[in-house]
Amino acid sequence: MTKSREETSHDPGRRKFLKGVGIVGAGAAIADHLWVEAEAEEKQATPQSLSGTVKVALDVNGQKRPVQVEPRTTLLNTLRNHLEPAVTGPKLVCDMGTCGACTVLLDGKPVYSCLVLAVDAANKKITTVEGLGSPEKPNAVQAAFVENDALMCGFCTPGFVTTISAYLKQNPNPSLAEVREACKGNFCRCGTYPRVFEAALAAAKASRA
Ligand code: FES
Ligand code: FES
Repeated sequence: MTKSREETSHDPGRRKFLKGVGIVGAGAAIADHLWVEAEAEEKQATPQSLSGTVKVALDVNGQKRPVQVEPRTTLLNTLRNHLEPAVTGPKLVCDMGTCGACTVLLDGKPVYSCLVLAVDAANKKITTVEGLGSPEKPNAVQAAFVENDALMCGFCTPGFVTTISAYLKQNPNPSLAEVREACKGNFCRCGTYPRVFEAALAAAKASRA
């Protein structure tokens, strides 16, 4: 029996090809579907970005200092650039938590204010070097820094004074080694360390007297 043209026109091969295309096509459709789902999940997992500013209730050196800042604003930036009048005792040096020039006390504990967001400092007691004493009435550490000539350029000084003031409350009679250890998070590029440590010991002695 003679086969028809359709039957003889390489039909099995063509069918196989079409089936193959069908499978590949279905695979592509499934892959597309999965990709869309994955993209949707990724979008859901990505936190919504915050924009604009928020109100933050700061308590700086015993004063209520409400401020409006972007959520990403550091405490250091807020103190220095968003308060009026500004609080400039804490210094911006490295801006990455290595030098200690920006040290402030948060509920009495020294922190690098360049690594703390202002929003995270809300409703906590922030003490800067200005809040420890005044030119007329310096605290023991501030007075000892002056008496012992414990600064050169002075850029690191607020950080050291703040750190040491907090430390002497915990340990009023430290050894030199303990003072050095307490100050390990503060750098002095002028190399005034011996005078700084002498001032810390002198302040401890004066506070005990
Ligand atoms: S400016 Fe914050 S640690 Fe250096
Ligand atoms: S006195 Fe200059 S960095 Fe310390």
